[in-house]
Amino acid sequence: MHRDMAEVLIDTEEIAAKIKAVGEQITKDFAGKELLLVSVLKGSVIFMADLMRAIDLPCKIDFMAVSSYGSAVNTTGAVKIIKDLDTPVENLHVMLVEDILDTGTTLKYLTEILHKRNPASITITTLLDKQERRAADIAADYYCFSVPDKFVVGYGLDFAEKYRNLPYIGVLRPELYQ
Ligand code: IMP
Ligand code: MG
Repeated sequence: MHRDMAEVLIDTEEIAAKIKAVGEQITKDFAGKELLLVSVLKGSVIFMADLMRAIDLPCKIDFMAVSSYGSAVNTTGAVKIIKDLDTPVENLHVMLVEDILDTGTTLKYLTEILHKRNPASITITTLLDKQERRAADIAADYYCFSVPDKFVVGYGLDFAEKYRNLPYIGVLRPELYQ
């Protein structure tokens, strides 16, 4: 374990098994359809790479980048698009792929923007769901793990751009950000 971690919350094997199961569920639910998987940069890239290989359907991928104002630990509310999708989403089944659904501000804003572009559907798939912290009226359609209200890193998730490459989800030692 990395010395900045208080504990390993979810290990590599558990993550792999759960992503496989969620991918199979998505494959069943969207049978006969084509998906546009939209990775919300940067935190979801590792999850996206695993999830897309666990989905046995025709799918395309695209990326969006948003900035949420606030500290490295908390999102304040305002969200700005830094990178938009490359192509229109009209009549497509859009699946937003996120690392963590926390207050929900980011995904609430993104789904509202994308709804205006008339997709066939919008769903949300997140690796982690921190339900206790939800402020916006939004829920994940698919999530791999529900996590407690602790600041977690690894598997794409960062603290000040660090720890994204850890192959597990760990709880950052609180004294490092408090
Ligand atoms: P929301 O808009 O509050 O739902 O925040 C979503 C974003 O906040 C995520 O995409 C992450 O980048 C970041 N975030 C929220 N909680 C954590 C955490 O525990 N660790 C790392 N990043 C987090
Ligand atoms: Mg982040």
